[in-house]
Amino acid sequence: MLSMSDFASCGSYEECSATADWLRAHTQVRPKVGIVCGSGLGGLAEMLKDPQVFKYSDIPNFPSSTVHGHAGQLVFGTLKGKPCVCMQGRFHLYEGYPIQKITLPMRVFKLMGVETMIMTNAAGGLNQDYKVGDVMIIKDHINMPGFAGISPLAGPNDDRFGVRFPCMSDAYDRELRQLAHDVAAELGYSDFLQEGVYCVLGGPSFETIAECRMLHSLGADAVGMSTVHEVIVARHAGMRCFALSLISNRAVMDYDSQEKANHEEVLETGRLRAQQLEKMVSTIVARLDNDNNNSF
Ligand code: HPA
Repeated sequence: MLSMSDFASCGSYEECSATADWLRAHTQVRPKVGIVCGSGLGGLAEMLKDPQVFKYSDIPNFPSSTVHGHAGQLVFGTLKGKPCVCMQGRFHLYEGYPIQKITLPMRVFKLMGVETMIMTNAAGGLNQDYKVGDVMIIKDHINMPGFAGISPLAGPNDDRFGVRFPCMSDAYDRELRQLAHDVAAELGYSDFLQEGVYCVLGGPSFETIAECRMLHSLGADAVGMSTVHEVIVARHAGMRCFALSLISNRAVMDYDSQEKANHEEVLETGRLRAQQLEKMVSTIVARLDNDNNNSF
């Protein structure tokens, strides 16, 4: 259990530096790309060459992952020759961690030299044109907890990470989204590729029918319980972000429907589409320097 003093120091420069120093002392890898794997999508981490694995419970200041389908480990290695760090399992608001703890890895990665963050998640499809198994490039987000003042940037701002009022109109990098479209077309994945708006909620209960209808009418194409807080902290610290949602279920919008959202369906869809999603992400990583002037 966290004490009050833990809350105060969560995600602070000192705390994140201590974690980054510990990791630097335990691995030779100096990652330029950070990857966060969503529910059932942890296979990406297994593509890393010469992997060095750290259980979250062994890393100073890291919370541990409590969700089934999330391995709970950090993997360093190279993907297509690029030095990467991969979170095999992430942290969520509904696990009860302070929000600054959930996003602590983003700041640790920044301090280790990461320039580009790639996030994946499983999400419920609100857009009626979306099918289970579609992959949605996130072009924008709606931060529902943020409307209630729940933000990983709440509290005193540390200018060493970023500015007090960071811009979010360019949160999801345009060039990387274009690169993803190009890669998907080359791989023959365009049939199941979408691009849309992701809405984050606190969870862990899935949405009611009325909530799904409301979110859809507000312009959300998919709904989930992750990613946005990580993106806000990564953007605050000046990292480029790219994120994909695997549409693992269709959000229930109709009172006559017998469908029910459940975590097993989320994991099963992940298993079915995982390899293609991994191929897409690894191809994007392979192209980062060529197409996007990333300095490797
Ligand atoms: N709602 C919220 N989060 C989710 C869903 C959903 O339908 N599917 C996967 N994560």
